[in-house]
Amino acid sequence: MKIDEKPVNELSKEEAAEELARIAGEMAKSDIAYYQNDAPYLTDSQYDALKHRNLDIEARFPELIRDDSPSKKIGAPILSAFSKIKHRFPMLSLADVFSIEDVDDFVMSVKRFLNTSDNIDIMSEPKIDGLSFAARYENGRFVQGATRGDGTIGEDITENLRTIRQLPKHLKGKVPEILEIRGEVYMSKADFMELNQRYESEGKKTFANPRNAAAGSLRQLDANITAERNLSLFAYTWGEVSERVWDSQADFFDHLREWGFPTNPYNTLCHTLQEVEDSYARLMEIRASLPYDIDGVVYKVNSIALQERLGFLTRTPRWAVAHKFPAEQAITTINDIHISVGRTGALTPVAFLEPVNVGGVIVSRATLHNEDEIKRKDFRIGDTVIIQRAGDVIPQVVEVIKEKRRPDSVAFEFPHICPECGAHAIREEDEAVRRCTGGLSCPAQAIERIIHFVSRNAFDIAGLGEKIVQEFYDEGIIQTPIDIFTLERRNGDGDLFAHELENALHLERREGWGKKSVEKLFAAINSRRIISLPRFIYALGIRQVGEATALLLAKNYGSFKNFMHDMVNKETGKLVSIDGIGPAMATDIVEFFQEEHNIKIINGLLNELTVEDYVDETNYDSPLAGKTVVFTGTLEKMTRSEAKAKAQSLGAKVAGSVSANTDYVIEGADAGSKAAKARDLGIKILTEDEFSDLIS
Ligand code: IVH
Repeated sequence: MKIDEKPVNELSKEEAAEELARIAGEMAKSDIAYYQNDAPYLTDSQYDALKHRNLDIEARFPELIRDDSPSKKIGAPILSAFSKIKHRFPMLSLADVFSIEDVDDFVMSVKRFLNTSDNIDIMSEPKIDGLSFAARYENGRFVQGATRGDGTIGEDITENLRTIRQLPKHLKGKVPEILEIRGEVYMSKADFMELNQRYESEGKKTFANPRNAAAGSLRQLDANITAERNLSLFAYTWGEVSERVWDSQADFFDHLREWGFPTNPYNTLCHTLQEVEDSYARLMEIRASLPYDIDGVVYKVNSIALQERLGFLTRTPRWAVAHKFPAEQAITTINDIHISVGRTGALTPVAFLEPVNVGGVIVSRATLHNEDEIKRKDFRIGDTVIIQRAGDVIPQVVEVIKEKRRPDSVAFEFPHICPECGAHAIREEDEAVRRCTGGLSCPAQAIERIIHFVSRNAFDIAGLGEKIVQEFYDEGIIQTPIDIFTLERRNGDGDLFAHELENALHLERREGWGKKSVEKLFAAINSRRIISLPRFIYALGIRQVGEATALLLAKNYGSFKNFMHDMVNKETGKLVSIDGIGPAMATDIVEFFQEEHNIKIINGLLNELTVEDYVDETNYDSPLAGKTVVFTGTLEKMTRSEAKAKAQSLGAKVAGSVSANTDYVIEGADAGSKAAKARDLGIKILTEDEFSDLIS
């Protein structure tokens, strides 16, 4: 058995020393990759596994603790110094599709939504594998640049973007007063190779792929570093504009070129589905020979008028999709199977692989999904397997090459005991995952929940990285999210009674910390004492509730008080009526609020924080904002779904039946009882034309 696989209690002293050195090296490498280079090197669970192993070995051989031990390090430099920029229009992402049939479905759904059988022109564009940017121009002059960030708030990278030669600083021709251009910054394959070669010869850590190199180069606090790296860009869409002087995507590209932006030469206007398919096949064919990485093809409805009618779902437009290229595969062996425990207690099997190059990225870990998948495909330690990765998705183990199986291999037995806390791990009926029943007494779950709570898209507390959370948890300094907000009081620099002073934390006395860093941490924490409703809901870490769902809940409930009231009292009427929240999700949400320790944490947090009510800023001026509308009869100019989406995007609630709370009834042809009831109740009735006027 290799040393790094040996259980800690079987290590000799020499082996332990060797292992401590290896782990210190690995973790340092990972820290640099994570904090400075934007390069994924270890997954969170791998990182945690190393951290635990290090602690265990140090506990057995305290005399071997190294000066550079990861257990002594406090946090890594955090790139929080970029100031934030709120996007005037959110930077959305695209839904992914993987087959021609899906593309077909996309075009069909567009036609259905628009209720037309006409051909729809589609712009086909290579999907550049870089990172998106927004560049704002005022009177043709470049004034501000931002990253996408979480889509709502990005980082100010004005000076970094300015160093990119291809970005025009002064636009040519006739330009709208305010013009925000969006596109992708990337590093060419050649520039990437050159950079890595140089780094290698200088003994520096290299980048995993061009995308990481581009991200690491653009998000540099020192723009001089960005300037040294060769970055390129393509422009492909817009954000805020004072006057839209184009009426199609093709027309927009013409303007972009005229203003001085690089556009991709393979952007192709397609008139038929066949042409769309051909454009994909062509890009697939030339992909390897392109000087930059692309990971698929983006299709957009060409007409802006139609785009506007189609509108948006929560995070993606209805008028565009990304057709991703198929995954790349490689063959390697499973060295070990590790079970990691997540924030909701899910036990996830991870294959530790013999490192292998998959389409330019070195992969050493891959997901095995869950217990059933391991059983079904009979994955075993020592097996030779096919693995694959597609884009940003975690690499997966696809299948075993049975002919190569070692004769002495044994089937993998999935643990029924949580490897982190020893509690029973059970599977509920119909559930694919086995979960630890330890709840917050399971350190893995408690820690993962705090890590989630402070993460970028939740409370975004700079200075509370994973390592510090782990340390503070282990030392009892932060056991629940509430403790974050009492940290400063407990630190002992305020007015404390004598007995309190005795227990004061005095973080500034910790090795590697000083008054400055402690003050900075408190400032970061205090700046989050007012938090938006969607972030707060997301931060709670309710099973299945990601950012999009949190946003939906915020929109529908308006305030945390309303939301919590309904959930605690199991009043689910509103919840289940929300488009996008299914019954399973609703159950998880309600259950979360039935657990006493969750309520305790929430109440503790509410004592420390203010959760802002949700205001949908975009709908402020709309005549439909806050109104309840009901559609009845057949509409002629638009489909029911289009009308409904339009009304919702203007802040209206669309109800199915007429009541005293209804503000407007929109009456199409052959309207029935709803219209009659509305007349009885004296509710304002609009014809389709009147509705169109109202919303235009
Ligand atoms: S359009 C609302 N066009 O892909 C539509 N995106 O998965 C916004 N991307 O965040 C995006 N090439 O970073 C668009 N030709 C292209 C693109 C492209 C690459 C990236 C972009 C976006 C992501 C969406």
